[in-house]
Amino acid sequence: MKDVKRLEGKVVVITGVAAGIGRASAELFARHGAIVVGADVDEKEGRSLEDTIKKSSGSMTFVRTDVSNVSELEKLFEVAQGLGGVDVLFNNAGIEVSKGIMETTEQDWDTSVNVNLKSVFFCSKLAIQQMKDKGKGVIINNSSVAGLVGSFSPAYSAAKGGIIALTKGLAADFGQHNIRVNCICPGAIETPMLERVIEFQGDPPEVRAMRQKNYPLARFGYPHEVAQTALFLASDESSFVTGATIVVDGGFTSK
Ligand SMILES: NC(=O)c1ccc[n+]([C@@H]2O[C@H](COP(=O)([O-])OP(=O)(O)OC[C@H]3O[C@@H](n4cnc5c(N)ncnc54)[C@H](O)[C@@H]3O)[C@@H](O)[C@H]2O)c1
Repeated sequence: MKDVKRLEGKVVVITGVAAGIGRASAELFARHGAIVVGADVDEKEGRSLEDTIKKSSGSMTFVRTDVSNVSELEKLFEVAQGLGGVDVLFNNAGIEVSKGIMETTEQDWDTSVNVNLKSVFFCSKLAIQQMKDKGKGVIINNSSVAGLVGSFSPAYSAAKGGIIALTKGLAADFGQHNIRVNCICPGAIETPMLERVIEFQGDPPEVRAMRQKNYPLARFGYPHEVAQTALFLASDESSFVTGATIVVDGGFTSK
């Protein structure tokens, strides 16, 4: 069967591109013909990904960006504008806060909200300006099952729940401009973030086994499984999907 490229020539901004879900998405989107603009604070891994994608004839420009800093985001979107303007934005960057409310400091709260939620708001604002000019656009936000059901980290959950509400608000506001906005809620996915969370909780094999019991599919997910969902949402195959919250969680929230 002929290899169908689902994002041919689309300018796609992905945040948190240097590891985990962001990295898998950049590789997949580039294979589908996207012109990827990748943002991350990790310059070494971001540049190495850029090299890997270019070596396999894909297109990626890495821009070292702290997503919690609005002036750095403005520079990121200037790069996207120079490539023709953003068609797809994947707000993926995020950080975990492995603390209960009594241990969470003001600094922890601010960092969680700034990196996990404020970034989604301002990236979307900058992207929408360019998408309105193009008359079309797609925004995908990476939330979490922690935004839907209780988690042990309220500062993380609050930010992730905020992303779900923001997704619906933007979808309602900008549908008239042909801009679709959707949200993915992954369960536990095998990434460096999950490794850090599990190590923090003590004996890793025991914690893994205990947590996997909560998954009807009896395993954690893989970054490419979230990337494939993001690809569906980024492409015209999801042309009537907006304001949706799609769980990619092996059934975790079905119980
Ligand atoms: N892995 C999971 O189990 C899981 C579950 C649910 C939701 N998520 C969400 O998926 C997204 C990706 O998670 P992951 O597991 O791939 O994480 P990860 O930690 O493996 O990778 C995240 C990437 O984001 C980058 N990043 C962190 N802070 C940044 C900042 N201020 N500016 C720019 N880049 C920054 C990191 O350098 C890293 O490259 C996050 O939003 C996370 O909350 C992950």
